[in-house]
Amino acid sequence: MIGIIGAMDEEVADLKGVMLVEETVELASMTFFKGMIVEKQVVIVRSGIGKVNAAVCAQILVDKFGVDMIINTGVAGSLNAKLNIGDMVISTDALHHDMDATKFGDPLGQVPRMDTLAFPADERLVGLAKDVNETVNPDIQTYVGRVVSGDQFIASAEQKERIVKHFDAYCTEMEGAAIAQVAYLNQVSYVIIRAISDKADNSAQEDYPVFVKKAIEHSVRLLIGLLAVV
Ligand code: ADE
Repeated sequence: MIGIIGAMDEEVADLKGVMLVEETVELASMTFFKGMIVEKQVVIVRSGIGKVNAAVCAQILVDKFGVDMIINTGVAGSLNAKLNIGDMVISTDALHHDMDATKFGDPLGQVPRMDTLAFPADERLVGLAKDVNETVNPDIQTYVGRVVSGDQFIASAEQKERIVKHFDAYCTEMEGAAIAQVAYLNQVSYVIIRAISDKADNSAQEDYPVFVKKAIEHSVRLLIGLLAVV
């Protein structure tokens, strides 16, 4: 069983549109749509925004639906100058940019007393997602790299600089690392797939609503292609 998490309605609506829904289940104020896409058993859910919603959602997918793979789709702010709005980032790994126990000697981003700084994505899924995206979305660039998450919409040069300075990351968003951590704790595979909607700087607030629609179109195309080959 494959779990697909999007934070916002618009991130999962189009994908739900191509799904054969067999059952809907309400848990923790979230609606889980169980059914088939390209002959694969999937559960699609809108988690809500932020890391707590995302973690609750991912754990429910594991406990109640027995997923062995989680795909997190959505949009993100770019942290790397070579990325353009619309380009796709596929996670190598993910970490919390807002986790700070540096006072105890931990590196920024490290969850204290866990054995890893970043939670690695499933290498096979990453490779497949990259290949599929290059095929189905040839009009954009595909990047494979680190995703950093925090409970903050990054929309200023200062906020962006702080993150860029500390982490060699491609994009920032608000859920991925929480889902990655849940996947790590439960030993299920995961990948984050994010289309760039803004540059996480002073123009982010204006760019975001304009480019989010196009970004989601690319993500849906990638998701359908990916489900066919996983
Ligand atoms: N999701 C899309 N753009 C983002 C940004 N700039 N910061 C956090 N999450 C985002």
